[in-house]
Amino acid sequence: MTEHLINLKVNGDAVAIRVPAHRTLLELLRDMLGLTGTKEGCGNGECGACTAFLDGTPVRTCLVLAVEADGCEVETIEGLTRDGKLKPIQEAFSETGAVQCGFCTPGFVIAAEALLRKNTDPDDDAIAAAFSGHICRCTGYASLVEGVKLAAKRMREAAAN
Ligand code: FES
Ligand code: FES
Repeated sequence: MTEHLINLKVNGDAVAIRVPAHRTLLELLRDMLGLTGTKEGCGNGECGACTAFLDGTPVRTCLVLAVEADGCEVETIEGLTRDGKLKPIQEAFSETGAVQCGFCTPGFVIAAEALLRKNTDPDDDAIAAAFSGHICRCTGYASLVEGVKLAAKRMREAAAN
């Protein structure tokens, strides 16, 4: 089995690790680095549960080979709360009932966080675009959209103070 030594940053920490050529970034995160907050749903790019930031862009980690992350910065759901403080979107999702079974939640949080980093006043279309391809089987989506709007409002208020 061919292995490659890759160097990357994961949640701010430098990682040097040998990975089999066929391993996905999702497998690297979950199985080799123990970062199980990133979930595996479909395993083929259709559900969004495995979403994490790769060089600042949300990606489906089940569709990225680990070797493709060589030299990159990866940020997972664990990285969002490393300082022990929840992001506004995490607090808002909790308050609006956007978390039920929770399996989809890390992917939705990353997608929403990516949107809010660029746009703290997103309309329905922007939120729908950010959530495109993310599947939640529990909430009906309204509470997820409401959560993004609540987080955005709080971020705008914090920026104004
Ligand atoms: Fe990657 Fe579903 S597990 S998109
Ligand atoms: Fe259960 Fe979304 S909260 S799948």
